[in-house]
Amino acid sequence: MAKAILITGASRGLGLVVADHLARCGYRVFGASRTPPPEGSKFKWVKMDITDKSSIAAGVENVLSEGGGIDVLFANAGYGVLGPIEDTPLELFQAQFNVNVFGTISAVKTVIPVMKKQGHGRIIITGSSGGVLAFPFFAPYHTSKFALEGFAESLSTEMKLYGIDVHLLEPGVMKTKMVESMTIVDEDLGKSSPFYRMSKLVRGYPVAQRFGTSPRKVAKRVEKICAGKKKAFRHPIGIDTHLTRLLKAVLPWKLINLGFRKSVMR
Ligand SMILES: NC(=O)c1ccc[n+]([C@@H]2O[C@H](COP(=O)([O-])OP(=O)(O)OC[C@H]3O[C@@H](n4cnc5c(N)ncnc54)[C@H](OP(=O)(O)O)[C@@H]3O)[C@@H](O)[C@H]2O)c1
Repeated sequence: MAKAILITGASRGLGLVVADHLARCGYRVFGASRTPPPEGSKFKWVKMDITDKSSIAAGVENVLSEGGGIDVLFANAGYGVLGPIEDTPLELFQAQFNVNVFGTISAVKTVIPVMKKQGHGRIIITGSSGGVLAFPFFAPYHTSKFALEGFAESLSTEMKLYGIDVHLLEPGVMKTKMVESMTIVDEDLGKSSPFYRMSKLVRGYPVAQRFGTSPRKVAKRVEKICAGKKKAFRHPIGIDTHLTRLLKAVLPWKLINLGFRKSVMR
């Protein structure tokens, strides 16, 4: 029987492209999200809110009743909260963590017993270049992606015990409409604010996204990971992630800090 894959965040963006691509490749694809994917999508939609444990359990049950097992979990759902740390209410940090971190952990924890029972499985987590280097103004989002880096590292070692492989994607900017669902805390930032320039840059993110990595390229990488052809734990994707990794490795923090302050603040 064809492999079954459960993808969270499949209603649009990267998850949708990966879901359609893997369905075309012959996988039995179950795409989870709160809202349905567009008509004509090639996979089975599973209604799921990853911030709600019972919703995840019901979704996984639904997949098992139809699919018999889950060979791959692509834990991809996420969104972004951006703003200066001082101005961003704690509740928005918590909401960010509830989806990106605790939602991902919750989905993974629900699927582990299924994969353990099968004696095999693969878990792919969508991190970000923002989990490598944290920008000013991006603290809620980047902190959540740093947390996923740590979670994925621990998970990969623990899951080896059970024959479950773990992979972490680190895409840079991608051509999706993610900015449309972002919460951006910049209403009170006047021209005199040190974060004014950053807020303007972020509002121009849709332009940057047009030049970002195509989700199709990421989908092909996911396909190779699913097929066992790309075995690495970490997958930096896009020139921006590779550059970010290089800068972080070679430059002292003092210089990175200065670079941010000179280029995007004030
Ligand atoms: N786009 C980029 O430049 C970029 C760069 C690096 C990393 N990433 C990461 O890549 C992943 C996908 O991003 P994207 O660009 O494809 O974003 P997107 O187009 O906004 O899609 C986000 C997906 O997550 C789902 N989602 C959000 N909250 C959810 C919840 N509580 N429960 C279930 N599903 C939920 C959404 O579905 P519903 O709203 O229907 O539930 C949607 O399908 C995210 O983890 C993001 O952080 C994106």
